[in-house]
Amino acid sequence: MKLQITSEPGHLDALAVIVFEQNEQHTEPVPPEVVAQGEWLGDLRASGEFTGKLYETAILHRPQSLSAKRLVLIGGGKAEKFGTAEARRIAGVLVRTLKSKGVKKIGLSLFNGMNTAASVQALAEGAVAGTWEAGKYKSEQKADSNKELEEFLLVGGGASHLATSLENGRIIAEAQNFARDLINEPGNRLTPAVLAQHARDVASAYKLESEILDAAAMKDLNMGALLGVAQGSANPPFLIVLKYRPENPVAPDHLALVGKGVTFDTGGVSIKSADGMEKMKYDMAGAGAVLGAMRAIAQLKPRIAVTAYIPTVENAVGGNAQRPGDIVITMSGKTVEVINTDAEGRLILADAVTYAKRDGVTHIVDAATLTGAIGVALGHHNAGAFTNNEEFLGKLFAASRVAGEKMWQLPMDEEYKDYLKSVFADLPNVGGRYGGSITAAWFIREFADPTPWIHLDIASTAWLDDGRPWLAKGPSGVALRTFVELAASWKS
Ligand code: BES
Ligand code: ZN
Ligand code: ZN
Repeated sequence: MKLQITSEPGHLDALAVIVFEQNEQHTEPVPPEVVAQGEWLGDLRASGEFTGKLYETAILHRPQSLSAKRLVLIGGGKAEKFGTAEARRIAGVLVRTLKSKGVKKIGLSLFNGMNTAASVQALAEGAVAGTWEAGKYKSEQKADSNKELEEFLLVGGGASHLATSLENGRIIAEAQNFARDLINEPGNRLTPAVLAQHARDVASAYKLESEILDAAAMKDLNMGALLGVAQGSANPPFLIVLKYRPENPVAPDHLALVGKGVTFDTGGVSIKSADGMEKMKYDMAGAGAVLGAMRAIAQLKPRIAVTAYIPTVENAVGGNAQRPGDIVITMSGKTVEVINTDAEGRLILADAVTYAKRDGVTHIVDAATLTGAIGVALGHHNAGAFTNNEEFLGKLFAASRVAGEKMWQLPMDEEYKDYLKSVFADLPNVGGRYGGSITAAWFIREFADPTPWIHLDIASTAWLDDGRPWLAKGPSGVALRTFVELAASWKS
């Protein structure tokens, strides 16, 4: 899809304008393209067919005095609540609504204060993310190029200085779509070895340094927790390391992005029930977000050193699978009693975080589809955030707001740590029945401390069961945009 910002869009299949809800305090100016249609908007509003509600659409064919074939109104909701997050989604809604109607070339009018760097970047992100579909393996859908949008234009005068923002948005959303492709791959097609190859490809295409540790290297490093999870699978594990180094660093800081890369999670011997198990192909969504973020970071070149650490394994059942009750020795030296082999994510993250610390990173963020419990706590709209450093979390939250990814902090009081007690080892890999997401976070923290660290539990936000008007059903790519913005906005 061609993406451009221009004051002369040429002939459009559809010109879209944002129209707000009307209320007494705010009467936002109506876009001139709509005014030219005479009473149409008033009639529409009066009929209740279009009120300006957020993401609502109405389509007029052969609009008066416009060369575009269609005029599309898209609701902006309440004008005073409208921001870049809404703009991003509106672009996605337009792309998704219009491409299914066979529209090839659309323009969005930058009327209504949309010609700022942040808005333009967000619009580009939303439009590009809106093009993604999950039908890669459906023969029919694959062949249907008829349903592809060819051009998305932002229409506004004197806007050429915003071309960089547009380009940045495109880079970020293309990375997001790349991550979604990876996350969507089934377990038979995306094994740890295949994921490692994707990482090598990203590294060579975008000039990052890469290092892929195999099982033998991990054994030398005493990564007993990671290897314990991997031993039940015929597909060998890897620890993927990708390094981005800026030419002109803004600070001596070094950010680690750690992503859970379980290419399929059967639960192991503590096997999951069959119902819905097919979804466990997305248990590498953290890895996908981190790899995608590195791809974007390599192109955007922020002024902070960033290293990605992606432990990747398949949690399978096999003759050599680890058992409940097994005790593993982690790279840190701490011993862990594996009470439940389905709590594998924290085990592989423990060794990856220890490895990152030995590399001298100053800040760690991990993203992991770690617990079903996070969905019970927060539903599907916020990722869970946990930290040992409030200031660092403040930075990440600021980035997540810019990126339009919702996150909510959960507590890490010392009391919760007491849920993790083992008679036979330093730590069990599960706490009790309650506060499951918090005990999982505490487990990782035991390895991250004292380095400033944030854990994002994306188990209930990384996969959209129903899809959204602006985003297809399937993997969301959540956390990627926040990671990129965190690096891009790093001050010290
Ligand atoms: N990969 C799962 C968590 C998960 C659940 C991700 C649902 C996406 C959707 C994780 O490895 C897991 O199985 N966690 C267990 C932990 C339990 C054994 C303490 C869980 O949440 O049930
Ligand atoms: Zn599991
Ligand atoms: Zn898992």
